[in-house]
Amino acid sequence: MNYKLRDWKISDLESLVEHANNYNIAKWLTNQFPHPYTETDGRTYIEMVMKDCVTKVFAIDINGEAVGSIGIFPQADIHMKSAEIGYWLSEKYWGKGIMAKAIEEIVDYGFRTFDIVRIYARPFSTNIGSQRVLEKAGFKLEARLKKALYKSGEYLDELIYSKINEQP
Ligand SMILES: CC(C)(COP(=O)(O)OP(=O)(O)OC[C@H]1O[C@@H](n2cnc3c(N)ncnc32)[C@H](O)[C@@H]1OP(=O)(O)O)[C@@H](O)C(=O)NCCC(=O)NCCS
Repeated sequence: MNYKLRDWKISDLESLVEHANNYNIAKWLTNQFPHPYTETDGRTYIEMVMKDCVTKVFAIDINGEAVGSIGIFPQADIHMKSAEIGYWLSEKYWGKGIMAKAIEEIVDYGFRTFDIVRIYARPFSTNIGSQRVLEKAGFKLEARLKKALYKSGEYLDELIYSKINEQP
């Protein structure tokens, strides 16, 4: 299925709220991704990501509609050579190979754009879909942090997956 990564724009608000307002997405993310997902939440998000001078968060666009989001976040201080990625896709488009490709694209963009050598993701241990997608994009499992997460009244293990740029 064809998609492209592009900057978010304020006219994406309606489609963002339509696709993001889904507990099947929110349950795998931090509580910063609200549920229910309101128009105010969407506007705050789009305005926030549009402020970056160098794009860190891209809309996943299918036929002109924003149906998901993927971002890369360079870290600070002694973690300055690492960046975390985060992503979600509308449930309507799951299982079509979109996110595996989008992750490969953001990894390529991240190593080209930022002065980093390591890109990582932190899926819940119960999030098999995200683990498969990371493995498909060439990420390796580094660690399991036991009971590191507390989400919806439940303790969960957090996994750390990374991809290292061996060039520098
Ligand atoms: C996880 C998520 C990003 C996967 O996106 P996607 O576009 O459906 O994934 P892909 O189609 O690229 O799948 C890549 C591989 O993972 C597998 N996979 C995807 N979802 C899966 C699931 N729920 N269970 C098992 N395998 C799964 C696919 O079968 C595919 O493997 P294959 O090519 O060998 O068949 C999407 O389900 C999502 O947005 N989930 C909610 C938010 C979320 O979990 N974000 C990540 C937080 S760390």
